[in-house]
Amino acid sequence: MAILAPMAAAAAPLTMAFLLLLLMGVICSVSHGQIEVGFYSDSCPDAEDIVTGAVQDAAASDPTILPALLRLQFHDCFVRGCDASVLIRSARNDAEVNNNKHQGLRGQAVVDAAKAELEDQCPGVVSCADIIALAARDAVAMTGGPSFDVPTGRRDGLESNLRDADVLPDVIDSIDVLRSRFAASGLDDRDPRPAHTIGTTACFFVKDRLYNYRLPSGGVGSDPSITPAFVTELKARCAPGDFNTRVALDRGSERDFDDSILRNIRQGLAVIASDAALDRSNATRALVTAYLGAGSSRFSQDFVDSMVKMGSIGALTGDDGEIRDVCSEFNSN
Ligand code: HEM
Repeated sequence: MAILAPMAAAAAPLTMAFLLLLLMGVICSVSHGQIEVGFYSDSCPDAEDIVTGAVQDAAASDPTILPALLRLQFHDCFVRGCDASVLIRSARNDAEVNNNKHQGLRGQAVVDAAKAELEDQCPGVVSCADIIALAARDAVAMTGGPSFDVPTGRRDGLESNLRDADVLPDVIDSIDVLRSRFAASGLDDRDPRPAHTIGTTACFFVKDRLYNYRLPSGGVGSDPSITPAFVTELKARCAPGDFNTRVALDRGSERDFDDSILRNIRQGLAVIASDAALDRSNATRALVTAYLGAGSSRFSQDFVDSMVKMGSIGALTGDDGEIRDVCSEFNSN
């Protein structure tokens, strides 16, 4: 004791300094804000259940809404960050959603339904950006994919501009362009693109691969990386000039979140060119091989990690942005 006492006395100022630093750290993180799992546990304890209920209700009458909700989060987060800018409607058609890159986007009505109920229970508390993230998480689980925690506490953005959505990837982008678009958003090769394990695409995004592909010989025809039998199958579904018929992105398994999209990609059965491209660069090809070799668990784990990562892109927190009253309008309108 006699020996320890002077040591304790000497340590006291150090302990004080440490506590001070800790306190400063806490103050900093509060003022910058951070998204965190369970953000609404005190302020709106039923928030996550209300979103889940809205997704379940919608899926009961239209199960195809589930993949649409997953895509909605990608389109929200990739443009200006996860700030619900994609939900804004503008009478002048100059909001982000009017950009062609958002073609076919659905699921906004589910977010609106959840928001209406949340406003009844806890007015002005839960952001539209968080509803999108939670609904996407639920959509993955409800199609048989992994269940995971989603950090919340995002706030809604104050801008939505038509041209901002130009950053979204295109089906015809080369693998290098695709990789650089994801890198620009802070994502890497494990980005959640195998999300195409669920859902469908309009023939619009497939037609050029079937009828207008530039062949090395100089003419045009069908993309030779699609197996011939699958070309026939796709052509039967997407006749020339048909832009609207929908085709499964993951042949034979579009309602189940599983790893069959990876096998399809490997076997020349990818439907859109950007999925086929995953097998064309060494890095992404190696990843497809690794996923196929390791079974679905590594794919699922990477998918969850990259969804959480994607969900944090540009998240507004603290005093930034606002909590919208109605998801399709800024509060100042
Ligand atoms: C290379 C990047 C990507 C491209 C070029 C791309 C392109 C597309 C296209 C063209 C469609 C069909 C749209 C329609 O006709 O309605 C689609 C659907 C879909 N995308 Fe992507 N996507 C990409 C990445 C992602 C990511 C990162 C996610 C999710 C995290 C995602 C989730 C989905 C889902 C779930 C669907 C199905 C939607 C439905 O069935 O309504 N995509 N994507």
